[in-house]
Formats: sequence, C-alpha cells, structure tokens
Amino acid sequence: MKLKNLRFFGRREKSVTPDFSRLPQHIAIIMDGNGRWATSRALPRTAGHRAGSENFRRIATLCNDIGVRYLTVYAFSTENWSRPRAEVEAIMGLFREYLLEACEELTKKNISLRIVGDTSPLSDEIKSLIRETDRLSQGNTGLHVNVCLNYGGRAEIVHAAQALSREVQEGRLRPEDITAAHIDAHLDTAGVPDPDLIIRPSGELRTSNFLLWQSAYAEYYFTPVLWPDFDETELYRAIADFQGRSRRFGGIEKKK
Ligand code: IPE
Ligand code: IPE
Ligand code: MG
Repeated sequence: MKLKNLRFFGRREKSVTPDFSRLPQHIAIIMDGNGRWATSRALPRTAGHRAGSENFRRIATLCNDIGVRYLTVYAFSTENWSRPRAEVEAIMGLFREYLLEACEELTKKNISLRIVGDTSPLSDEIKSLIRETDRLSQGNTGLHVNVCLNYGGRAEIVHAAQALSREVQEGRLRPEDITAAHIDAHLDTAGVPDPDLIIRPSGELRTSNFLLWQSAYAEYYFTPVLWPDFDETELYRAIADFQGRSRRFGGIEKKK
C-alpha cells in the first residue's frame, strides 16, 4: 500500500515547530522521488534530478542554519548504474555542474562537504571536483555534509572486511580482537557518528542499501512527499516526529 493511502497522513497539512534545543545530531536523507516529480509534470526525469539537486542545497543550508551537526544524503547508489545510460550520464552531468557550484555556495556558509562512496569509477573531472570540494571545506566548522556518491551499504561492509582480512593476514590484527569499532573505522563514513534520523521521501518503505551498518539504532521517517518538494515544513515535521519517539537502545525507558 502506498503511504499516501494511510490514515496517518491525513493530518499532514498541519505545520509543526520542532524543539530546536534538542535536534538530532545527524540526519540522513534518501533523496528519492526525482523521477516521479518530473513525470507528474510531464517533464523529462532529468528535470527532476535538477530540482532534487537544488533542493539539496536548500535543505543543507537550512540544517546548517538551525544547528544540525551532520547531514548525510544519498545521491547515487551502487545499483543506480543499472539505469538507462542516458539517465546515468545526465545525473553525472548534474554532479559536474552542481558539485562545484553547491560546494562554493555551501562552504562560504562554513559548511564542509565530503563525498562518500567508491569514487574510483567516476570521471577524472568529477574526481578533481571532489578534491576541490575537500580543499574548499577545510577548516569549516558548521554543518558536516556527506554526499553519498556510488555508495552502497553492502559494498562498504565488503571493503571493510577486505581491509581487516589484510591486517590479519599481515599479522597486525588477531581475528578475536576485531570489534565493531574496527568495522566502523573502515567504513566510507569513518569518523562520522551514526545517524539519529533517516528520512525517506517518495513513499517507498525500504532502505535501498543505505547506511546498513550505521542505521542499527536510527529512527526512520517515511513520507510520500517527493524529494524536490521536501521543504522546511517537511523537515520540521520529520524532526518533531523524531523528537516524540522513545529511543531505548535495547534498554528500558529512563524515568523522567
Ligand atoms: C532519486 O530519484 C535519485 C536517484 C536515485 C539518482 P529517482 O530517480 O529514484 O526518482 P523516482 O524514484 O524514479 O521517482
Ligand atoms: C535510492 O533510491 C538511491 C538514491 C536515492 C540515491 P532508488 O530509487 O535507487 O531506490 P529503489 O530502486 O526505489 O529501491
Ligand atoms: Mg527512486
């Protein structure tokens, strides 16, 4: 059943104000629904990807303004290569166009950007833009943005397993000494705290290979709103919903 058919979403019109003194430290977003946004307007899917890229800049700026510490966005998955070649090329073209522009704009606002995922198959031009992104981000202390590009949760766990196996093989690590922290340290997101809130717009109720390891205790928020339409009101609604949840991490609720 599509989310929009659920009674819960009958109340969606109401705008809400979250408690800005206890924001989630790390918000992650599966930026989904660009294609449907475009198709519903009789536009080519690429127009939806463009609108989605613009929305990324708006939401990153907003997260920075309200004081969120980390934002991780899913921009292109390891499975998205299976799309028609023309669409993949159009998306890569948008990365080329937007990466530098978005980076220049966002880094001026003290935001730092990091590209997360396997960048090896990307074009030399995109790779050099990624290096420029790192350079422009240096020293910025505002919101930390991770853009997941050619990212897959399974792929990063496989890479972590390979790296740890090499350490064992070279006698630098004993298998029995491997802990969750070792795996954390070898993921594409090493050094970033786990997400508190994972938002998936577009009405799909799945993770699509996003942050499989890191999401162990994340709170999920699903909405039928398509990513290009996911605005300030929608973000505040997601945060307020998150703030109403009881996170027990396997324990029992703390007495107030
Ligand atoms: C998300 O939007 C962008 C990428 C996966 C690159 P989609 O392109 O998946 O949009 P829908 O899901 O087809 O509407
Ligand atoms: C997930 O969306 C990937 C991104 C948003 C980048 P997809 O559109 O690729 O996911 P599925 O195919 O609906 O699971
Ligand atoms: Mg999709």
